[in-house]
Amino acid sequence: MSLHGWPVEGDEDKKMLMEQVSAFASEVVAPKAKHHDETGEFPASHVKQMAEMGLMGMMVSEEFGGAGLDAVAYAMCMEEISAACASTGVIMSVNNSLVCWPIDEFGTSDQKKKWLTPLARGEKLGCFALSEPSAGSDPGGLKTVATKVDGGYKIRGTKNFITNGKEADTAIVFASTDPTKGHKGVTAFLVDTKSKGFSVSKLEDKLGITASSTAQLFLDDVFVPADAKLGEDGQGLKIALATLDGGRIGIAAQALGIGRCALEAAKKFASDREQFGAPISKLQAIQFHVADMATRMQSARLLVWNAARLKDSGVRFSKEAAMAKLAASEAAMWVATKAIQVHGGYGYTKEYVVERNFRDAKITEIYEGTSEIQRIVIAAQEFAELKG
Ligand code: CAA
Repeated sequence: MSLHGWPVEGDEDKKMLMEQVSAFASEVVAPKAKHHDETGEFPASHVKQMAEMGLMGMMVSEEFGGAGLDAVAYAMCMEEISAACASTGVIMSVNNSLVCWPIDEFGTSDQKKKWLTPLARGEKLGCFALSEPSAGSDPGGLKTVATKVDGGYKIRGTKNFITNGKEADTAIVFASTDPTKGHKGVTAFLVDTKSKGFSVSKLEDKLGITASSTAQLFLDDVFVPADAKLGEDGQGLKIALATLDGGRIGIAAQALGIGRCALEAAKKFASDREQFGAPISKLQAIQFHVADMATRMQSARLLVWNAARLKDSGVRFSKEAAMAKLAASEAAMWVATKAIQVHGGYGYTKEYVVERNFRDAKITEIYEGTSEIQRIVIAAQEFAELKG
């Protein structure tokens, strides 16, 4: 097992955790990944075992059912799981970063007891319902409305491309409580997906990460009690964007896992495959591909760990998370493409894992903010720093 320079020196607990997670990923998750990719079957038993290992609420304190670990450990575990199965990785990432984190950060103590604890224990699964058919990169333009009624709110609208949308027990739903205020009218709500009027209106048929659901959700005047409002009226967009900062570390780590799987496969193939009387790994053309792939992966990995380290230290890390996601997702896509090239015609067939890596890598350049959005976030911060 390669440690990829894991920053665990002197921390025996973290080293032991990483060894356990790595063994679980390669011995339990990876052997079933092809089956999950081909059938689109939700990896329920893996999610259950991940819950038992504390992987579904990694950064939540033990008081509220979590593992009480830091974002660096989370990023390292995400990479391990995603190197085995990218679908399983995103299921874990959404529950940790997009659902548990905002409840932990913005929820009341009662909300943490009621909503966060079962999610962090992995007894329940969550989804993050921000995007809409006409509000993707611009979530401030969302159309879902929450109207005040006796004892709470009624929410009406459609949410699009929601990871875990089919299986989730809890949804964090963003809706406008005051459409006249634009993005300052957006408010966040904790919604039980079994509520009357809540339904899955469409399931997407996707290029990759086929074993994680991507759903369109319809909320037909769903009643939400007043005590299920997360944060204050009008604070919703800030909650969503702050949450996505952490989410981007998770997706960046997922991309590292996908790219690493492709790189390992390319090295193995190149060592086994003989042409011109010798393994193709002896050819400098192949060696240069492998050197570039390994360098891009490790550069991205250090950006991911840096963003996670900043998150753990409590300072704003929006720019660094955007850099990590931009670099890791583009590295994963590039590495997966090169890995197919190293495999030649074999890499274009479903017999080799690099074909799946190529399909899975693409989404990491799109969800939780496209590469173009990451560049906007980075550039805005760079110019803000210039102004001082
Ligand atoms: N943390 C906290 N607050 C933030 C913030 C952050 N990282 N970034 C911005 N804000 C605040 C701003 O301070 C501003 O507050 P005020 O109105 O009080 O000044 C407010 O939020 C709006 O900020 P901007 O004016 O900068 O917003 P904008 O409309 O120009 O958009 C953006 C900025 C970077 C484009 C942002 O909208 C963005 O990140 N878009 C991409 C959204 C995205 O990632 N969507 C994916 C959805 S989830 C998903 O993929 C599905 C899934 O299930 C995995």
